Amino acid sequence: MKRLLHIIATPRENESRTLQVSESFLEAFNESHPDWVIDELNLSQEDLPPLSMKSVTGKYILLEEKDLYGSLREAWAEIIQHIERFKTADFYLISTPMWNFHIPYMLKHYIDLIVQPKYLFRYKEDGTTEGLLKDKKMVVITSRGGRYSKDNEKYDVQEPYLKLIFGFVGITDIHFIKAEPMDMGLEIQKEQIEKAKKAAKEAGRNA
Ligand SMILES: Cc1cc2nc3c(=O)[nH]c(=O)nc-3n(C[C@H](O)[C@H](O)[C@H](O)COP(=O)(O)O)c2cc1C
Repeated sequence: MKRLLHIIATPRENESRTLQVSESFLEAFNESHPDWVIDELNLSQEDLPPLSMKSVTGKYILLEEKDLYGSLREAWAEIIQHIERFKTADFYLISTPMWNFHIPYMLKHYIDLIVQPKYLFRYKEDGTTEGLLKDKKMVVITSRGGRYSKDNEKYDVQEPYLKLIFGFVGITDIHFIKAEPMDMGLEIQKEQIEKAKKAAKEAGRNA
């Protein structure tokens, strides 16, 4: 059975503007893909393992193309579960607001856990890297307090970063849906949420 992994990076639950838009995507996606499983990973409710001395050591072992051994394997069990859950999904939906022009820290924490050599990317003989995920699609739904077009596009480091890091592991088909500006008056907020919901429905139908 195919699986969509929905990664949620806002703690605002029912208050979330981002999740309102994601709901429209999922409604349409469920209709067009009735046999798919929706696997929800709410990062604000998840007790992600810390990147401690031990777990970071594991990364350096893998970078040397060695296998994890002894207590390192135990320390990595939870990290590997997260990597496998990510790696084996068929489609990704990320729901994330902009925080300080970037992604919220829980999403960065998750990325720091899962983007590991040997699992999501590898070094080739010539020293370049190769992403190990193939033929996967991602939709990113984001909402922002301000507006990031034209003159202040440079402040948006969220979209280029997400394209860069997921492109690095092989996910290059990434479609962004943005609801903005959210914090410049209620009228424009409502209008932009409706606009983003429409785009999300269409993306869900055509996914
Ligand atoms: C910690 C924090 C940092 C934020 N930083 C930015 C920012 O850099 N730029 C911006 O436009 N909005 C920023 N916002 C506003 C949110 O992006 C905006 O309100 C968004 O719609 C919240 O999404 P949510 O309701 O799904 O949580 C920030 C909000 C919070 C809580």
